[in-house]
Amino acid sequence: MKRLNWGMIGGGEGSQIGPAHRISTALDGLFDFKAGALDAYPGKGRDFAMRLGIAKDRAYGDWKEMLQGEMNRPDRIDLVTVATPNSTHYEITRAFLEAGINVLCEKPMTVTVEEAEDIAATAKRTGSICAVNYGYSGYPLVRHMRAMVARGDLGKVRLIKAEFSHGFHADAADADNPRVRWRYDRALAGISGQFADCGIHALHMASYVGGQDARELTADFASCLPQRTLEDDAMVSVRMDGGALVRLWTSSVAVGSMHGLNIRVFGEKGGLRWAQQWPDQLYWTPLNSPTVRLERGGPGLSPLADRASRIAVGHAEGMPIAFANIYADLAEVIQARKDGRAPDPLACHYPTATDGLRSIAAIRAAVDSAEAGGTWTDARPPSLR
Ligand code: NAI
Repeated sequence: MKRLNWGMIGGGEGSQIGPAHRISTALDGLFDFKAGALDAYPGKGRDFAMRLGIAKDRAYGDWKEMLQGEMNRPDRIDLVTVATPNSTHYEITRAFLEAGINVLCEKPMTVTVEEAEDIAATAKRTGSICAVNYGYSGYPLVRHMRAMVARGDLGKVRLIKAEFSHGFHADAADADNPRVRWRYDRALAGISGQFADCGIHALHMASYVGGQDARELTADFASCLPQRTLEDDAMVSVRMDGGALVRLWTSSVAVGSMHGLNIRVFGEKGGLRWAQQWPDQLYWTPLNSPTVRLERGGPGLSPLADRASRIAVGHAEGMPIAFANIYADLAEVIQARKDGRAPDPLACHYPTATDGLRSIAAIRAAVDSAEAGGTWTDARPPSLR
């Protein structure tokens, strides 16, 4: 496959998620890193981009300069990743979609439902691809769970228990750490803290695996550190449109919990259990039968799982590899468009602007529900009711 040109906004030196994107895009050799506006400080961003091998005239000071610079180049970027703090996602993503440049936007896609509706509509109108980086959906065994549910192995899904709880924002002495602070600052993070930062991954995964979307939810938010205006802990119950009930807990003060993204799916004919910290094993318990441990890369998995598993069975899975699956999907879809052919259907399982939109609507509903004392609130975006 011909290599595609890739650019990045945000993800500067020392950022949390920038390196994961660079590793992920490099993994398969499908993308060349050609342009970047990597930092809130233009000089720092230019300097870092050039150190990463980007040519001087494509190491930009800010995203507007990058858009101007890239728009009219014959070798302009095919895909840009937006990995800046949340409040900037909307403006940047919209501008690149309008210019006909495909976007992989970090989650949460926007801060408000109105913005998310606009992004989804802009992607539809312009024909530009807008993906959202729910990167954990790239894990082979997560895709296998999706395939198992879709082919009916579990029967009707009754309950999903989803968690994303860590303890890395529990230290009150860390309040001024700039990497922590913006996540609880309304001006930079938006209307929700921990639910929008981590809980939304758990909800997306419940939806991705369960094949159902959130219809209504009830939420209880808490700020365990009193100086925080946004929540650092949330308990949310979600009624899905296919009848399943999701019980979701997310926290950033759960000391001792590491990257606690766990999911359990309980259906009429069996149950599944997967944890991101042990991503290579999936536990499957058919009703009235012993538990079976499925191994990533092992025999008997679905084509959806096999496509996403490229290191030998027994080797530990890595998060950048999950991200790389999103990039691989996008590369296939973009390249197929360039070639005028249909994309591989197995490449069409990346999270889209619609997933981003549903998530933003769920955040809005959760905030409204929490503020109203936990009342059941419609979680669907207005355009999808
Ligand atoms: P961070 O604070 O570690 O890094 C942010 C980077 O963006 C810094 O290099 C900063 O200089 C740069 N930046 C800020 N404003 C900018 C602008 N206007 N133009 C260009 N660069 C700018 O933040 P982190 O943790 O890397 O998060 C970034 C985004 O990624 C957030 O939206 C976050 O929710 C998301 N994220 C997603 C994860 C996932 O699993 N999908 C995991 C962690 C973060």
